[in-house]
Order: sequence, then structure tokens, then C-alpha cells
Amino acid sequence: MSAFVVAIDGPAAAGKGTLARRLAEAFDFAYLDTGSLYRAVALALLRAGNPQPTEAQAATAAAALDLGLTGDAALRDEATGNLASVVAAMPRVRTALLGLQRDVAVNPPGGKAGVILDGRDIGTVIYPEAPVKLFLTASVDARAARRYLELVDKGVRADLDQIRAEIAARDARDAGRATAPLKAADDAYLLDTSNLGIEDVFAKAKTIIEKARGTQA
Ligand code: CDP
Ligand code: CDP
Repeated sequence: MSAFVVAIDGPAAAGKGTLARRLAEAFDFAYLDTGSLYRAVALALLRAGNPQPTEAQAATAAAALDLGLTGDAALRDEATGNLASVVAAMPRVRTALLGLQRDVAVNPPGGKAGVILDGRDIGTVIYPEAPVKLFLTASVDARAARRYLELVDKGVRADLDQIRAEIAARDARDAGRATAPLKAADDAYLLDTSNLGIEDVFAKAKTIIEKARGTQA
């Protein structure tokens, strides 16, 4: 029997990772944060002193990806996220990372019965066969406020206007690119989390998955 795949897509700070981790725990599923792959490619390039790579250079970095970088503290830096969204617009980079993501969907690590992948194109490109596709959205203001609070919690000084501008720029790049743009699959459940707490989003998603699992014989 094939693994049960849950695809979670949506823009930056919509709450994808938070929801995916909660669901993975509740259902004992594996979890892959696909954004961390693009971030790791960006971090490798930054560490190599190449903040403005050509597509060929970025594709080479993606093909040689060191998965150890996905655990690096600098992965979450805004600079890494911004370059990640630049290299993510390069078709050859996306192709280099495709096989790895599909493999995880087909054969979840740890032999788990299911797997949750979060990103931008899981339901549209990476695994359109997924029986459950969730598309999380939230207003730019709500998402900027979340990132701001995260930084303040970490004791980092942050500028809300700058964060809002960076999120809006990343949204435009992610949704406007030609290859695998950010968009909801036709059969995705849309969840606007602007005014929903983490528990509310989790409860809705859990119900959707339980229903789908019941009907997937
Ligand atoms: O955490 P946040 O939502 O800010 O970003 P992320 O999920 O870590 O992804 C970083 C960047 O990678 C995004 O801005 C996207 O451009 C890109 N990405 C993508 O193109 N496709 C994916 N499946 C995942 C991430
Ligand atoms: O993975 P993604 O970039 O979509 O978002 P995240 O990292 O899961 O969530 C960004 C921040 O928003 C985290 O600090 C969450 O705790 C917070 N959040 C929230 O306040 N309300 C929600 N409904 C979901 C997430």
C-alpha cells in the first residue's frame, strides 16, 4: 500500500511548518520541509561567497546539496530565505531537487505510513496524486506580524515595515515565476489563517485528513 501523502502549500509565514509538525506528530507521519532544501542551496552559495549565482552555478549547488545544511542555524536567516526564493525561480534548480522530494513522498523515511510535505508546489508539481492538499494563506500583515514576533522572541531587533516589504517581494517572486509558481491546486482545501489560532488550523486539517483516510481504501 502506498504511503498517505499530505501536501501543504502556501506563502511565507502562512503557518505551513507549524501545522505540518503538529500533524506529523498526531498521525505519526514523516515530515519534509521542502523550503529547507531551497534554503540549503542558498546557504551553500552564500558560504561559497556567491550571493548572485547564475542558473548553472545554482543548479550545480543543488545537485551537490549537502543535506546537513538543512540543520544549520543560518538556514532561517532572511538573507538565506531571500536568496532561496531567487534560486527557486530557476528551472534547473527545481529539476535538481525534484527526485529527492518525490522519493520522500513515495517512500517516507522511517517506514512511516504517511508523510507530510510542505512548500509551494507540492500539490501542483511534486505530488499531485496526494489525497489531501491544503493551501494555507494569510494576509501579508498577519504574516509579517508573525515573523516579527518570532524575531522579537529570539531577542533580535526587527523592523516590521521591512519584514512586510520582504514578504511581499517574496510572494511576488514565488507567485510570478514561470516554473512551478505558488498557486493552489484545483482540488486543494483553502485555509485562510489570518484570524485563526494554531489549534484551530490544526483541528480543521486533522478532520480533513481523517475523512480522507477513511475513504481511502
Ligand atoms: O519559511 P518560509 O515560508 O518563509 O519559506 P520556505 O518555505 O523556507 O521557502 C524558502 C523559499 O524557497 C520560498 O520563498 C520559495 O521561493 C522557495 N520554495 C519553493 O519555491 N518551492 C518549495 N516547494 C519550497 C520553497
Ligand atoms: O512554514 P511557514 O513559513 O508557512 O510558517 P510557520 O513558520 O509555520 O509559522 C510562522 C509563525 O506564525 C510561527 O511563529 C507560528 O507560531 C505563527 N503562527 C500563528 O501565529 N498562527 C497560525 N495560525 C500559524 C502560525
